[in-house]
Amino acid sequence: MRYLIGVDIGTSGTKTVLFDECGRVVADKTVEYPMYQPQNGWAEQDPQDWFAAVRDTLIAVSAALPEGGEVAGIGLSGQMHGLVMLDEAGEVIRPSIIWCDQRTGAECEEITARVGAERLIEITANPALTGFTASKILWVRNHEPENYAKCKHILLPKDYIRYRLTGEFATEVSDAGGMQLLDIAKRQWSAEVLEALDIDPALLAPVYESPEITGYVKGLGVLEGVPVVGGAGDNAAAAVGSGAVAAGRAFTTIGTSGVVYAHTDKPVIDPKGRVHTFCCAVPGKWHVMGVTQGAGLSLKWFRTQFATEISYREIDEIAATVPVGAEKLLYLPYLMGERTPHLDPNARGVFFGMSAMHEKKHFLRAVLEGVTYSLRDCVEVLREMDIPLDGMTVVGGGGKSALWREMIAGTFNLPVKTIQNGEGAALGVAILAGVGTGVYESVEAACDKLIAYNEPQLPTDTDAYEAYYQIYRTVYPALKASFAKLAGV
Ligand code: XUL
Repeated sequence: MRYLIGVDIGTSGTKTVLFDECGRVVADKTVEYPMYQPQNGWAEQDPQDWFAAVRDTLIAVSAALPEGGEVAGIGLSGQMHGLVMLDEAGEVIRPSIIWCDQRTGAECEEITARVGAERLIEITANPALTGFTASKILWVRNHEPENYAKCKHILLPKDYIRYRLTGEFATEVSDAGGMQLLDIAKRQWSAEVLEALDIDPALLAPVYESPEITGYVKGLGVLEGVPVVGGAGDNAAAAVGSGAVAAGRAFTTIGTSGVVYAHTDKPVIDPKGRVHTFCCAVPGKWHVMGVTQGAGLSLKWFRTQFATEISYREIDEIAATVPVGAEKLLYLPYLMGERTPHLDPNARGVFFGMSAMHEKKHFLRAVLEGVTYSLRDCVEVLREMDIPLDGMTVVGGGGKSALWREMIAGTFNLPVKTIQNGEGAALGVAILAGVGTGVYESVEAACDKLIAYNEPQLPTDTDAYEAYYQIYRTVYPALKASFAKLAGV
């Protein structure tokens, strides 16, 4: 029996899972780490924290390898877009500015001016966004020129881990697309964008397809010589782990961020830029996804500030006792600005309709519902683009909540499924490792073999959810100008 390892370097922690070649979990280990917010709208993490978590979790799961078993390969999944800058000696120069950081509004304008709005979308398939890496690179150049001068390598979070594990500089198409420096149709760095932004191509790592071997583990003390494949950005990884690898297949994930993702055989672009178009982990294919910045992040924030005494399971039980609509309390989950559909780094969270009759339980339900309405906004854009959504799988930490799934089914008016092996991104990159090392024939064949779905959960309370969603979608436009003023104070 051969074994595969999937490592998912998320925002709240790293989860590493050892699978056998039938996709069964042999061992898993999670280590958490902090996110730092030095200013309102900023978000940073320490790449050393990611590496310590990856090292410790790899050592832990390796110890569970059955006698005589061999790990055929390792796949890396990671939070997308984060900027890791290394100096000549390969040392980290400054904390990573991560995906949900919103400081780069001015740099997005600079990118649009340098490349041209239309040309930028033609090449990178997306308008300039604060979440993406290019604007973060320009921010460091504009605000910390001494750090920029020292920078010799620019890597994404999981690709920094690859460097620490193998000594190789490499990235792969699904994550590289989120840097806004890739020609999405050609699946290679865009010389035109790099030149317009005056970024030296030598700073960037070679780009692989996701299942390709990029290096071998060296000097970790365990797993010596095991191949490490390209892997994928966490959403493209979750797509593989949930079988969303053919047109019409889609999934919703609730991690720190929330995403509605649909596979496409061609690069399909929303002319208004409200959803992202990136390469996916299936060689030669693409995907479209809508992103809400504060999904699991909203619930974690609320619980940390106001409800530490309640576990996540109890939150579900308590929120389930409150009717749909939380007795007329709505929540807008824009704690870290918003991408789909507003593309507004200045947006902030809102509780709307508070009354003296509301208790903590109403706020808990409103948070869960507000995140769901924001995901529905993503679905609406995909529907507008005529992207087929044959079914919806729900993955990620939030997907483990039966109540949240019920809200998703009712709000999307779609049956939702979960996967029997609920490991999502970690399974996805383990599958990519299996494809790259010859355990499986192709990504699609491996998904057919390994991924089984539970019975779908059918939509309920659709009229009630629809009524609240229609009000929810009027609140942001009413506040847009005030958000901008607040940011400018
Ligand atoms: C996707 C995005 C997030 C991160 C963190 O564009 O920014 O989903 O990948 O998980």
